[in-house]
Amino acid sequence: MKILVVGGGGREHAIIKKLKENPEVGTIYALPGNGGIARDAQCVNIGATDIDGIVRFAVENAVDYAVVAPDDPLVLGCVDALEARGIPCFGPRANAAIIEGSKVFAKNLMKKYGIPTAAYETFDDLDAALSYIDTQDAPIVVKADGLALGKGVIIAQSREEAKEAAVSMMRDGKFGKSGARVVIEEFLTGPEVSVLSFTDGETVAPMISSMDHKRAGDGDTGLNTGGMGTIAPNPYYTPEIAARCMEQIFLPTVRAMKAEGREFRGCLYFGLMLTPKGPRVIEYNCRFGDPETQVVLPLLESDLLTIMRAVTAGTLKDAEVRFSDRHAACVIMASRGYPVAYEKGYEITVPDAVWPRVFVAGAKAQDGRLLTSGGRVLGVTAVADTLRAAIDSAYADVETIHFDNAFYRRDIGARALKAGER
Ligand code: AMP
Ligand code: GLY
Repeated sequence: MKILVVGGGGREHAIIKKLKENPEVGTIYALPGNGGIARDAQCVNIGATDIDGIVRFAVENAVDYAVVAPDDPLVLGCVDALEARGIPCFGPRANAAIIEGSKVFAKNLMKKYGIPTAAYETFDDLDAALSYIDTQDAPIVVKADGLALGKGVIIAQSREEAKEAAVSMMRDGKFGKSGARVVIEEFLTGPEVSVLSFTDGETVAPMISSMDHKRAGDGDTGLNTGGMGTIAPNPYYTPEIAARCMEQIFLPTVRAMKAEGREFRGCLYFGLMLTPKGPRVIEYNCRFGDPETQVVLPLLESDLLTIMRAVTAGTLKDAEVRFSDRHAACVIMASRGYPVAYEKGYEITVPDAVWPRVFVAGAKAQDGRLLTSGGRVLGVTAVADTLRAAIDSAYADVETIHFDNAFYRRDIGARALKAGER
């Protein structure tokens, strides 16, 4: 089988490595992939948002199956375009990807179908937003409606700060069209849990839970990033909470999408907060999370391609989705200065024995060398019988990897370890 994977980050590398475990899988093309993914797939220099280019390539190369991993091509209708040419795909169509593409859509869906989330109002008029902020107590959460590279959420500590955020999004166009509408919502507290799930629009098969570490610095300080590390399973996510989430959040969401004529097939990501009043949806993503995928897929014991094809075919209820009862930890190695300004072009060295546990996010191959080319450079994932052993093993591997200006958090999993001890 010839498989095409759209995307070029650590998540895509993790998907590709997992797909390769199936002996039916022949060539995997990664569009565009990256210098590290090139160890495991044939990278083709077609950008992930070049929908016409992707479709042309898929048709010309008689691709049998396509996996569209990132949010932008999904929101832009990459799956619709591939399906129109008869290529079966993993990923939601554009009309379902809107669950991530528009926070206003997602919030209104939850309100309409009684799915627990933070109380909110949406605004497309700046003056109305400013007046509303005057009636709220800080902290106040201001969110740009559209995709904003994970930077469209401001947790304002005062009304003034919330107003500045609204002005920068709605008047100054900080996130372009994405910020023309905003959601202003209640600030929630509690541990966060990421639950990725497979769904064919009917059945929901949650994957093992995980915990992201979004801030750049140790102790959850510094700026928000795409994610600096993950662990799985998440110790806060007990079987009781899982059952409640299935009943109150997962199934209602999938049914709501179907009722709206927007059947969701693919990976639906639930970003949850376990508040004192129960689990609440913080965000939906229409795709695998990154770096969540880098701990979740290494714990998947069932065959990924078989599950994906069952999702596409609408036969997920008959598929086996089984996870290991072990633990995984992933540490992201980034370029110093990420998520703001950072240098690129430093040579990366990884010992041969460590490569199987490395997922490359931002690197390019040049003259037989691997050079840094992004903020998040790579992730190192270890699997072990205990969380502590997984963390120690991931950090031991990190010590063996070198590139200039590397930085990483030293406390990935520390909070989960403490929670697990209680
Ligand atoms: P998002 O881009 O939607 O993932 O939001 C980024 C982060 O902002 C989340 O992971 C939360 O930590 C935080 N956040 C978002 N919404 C809220 C909220 N209503 N209350 C508290 N924290 C929030
Ligand atoms: N790690 C969070 C995300 O993928 O959105």
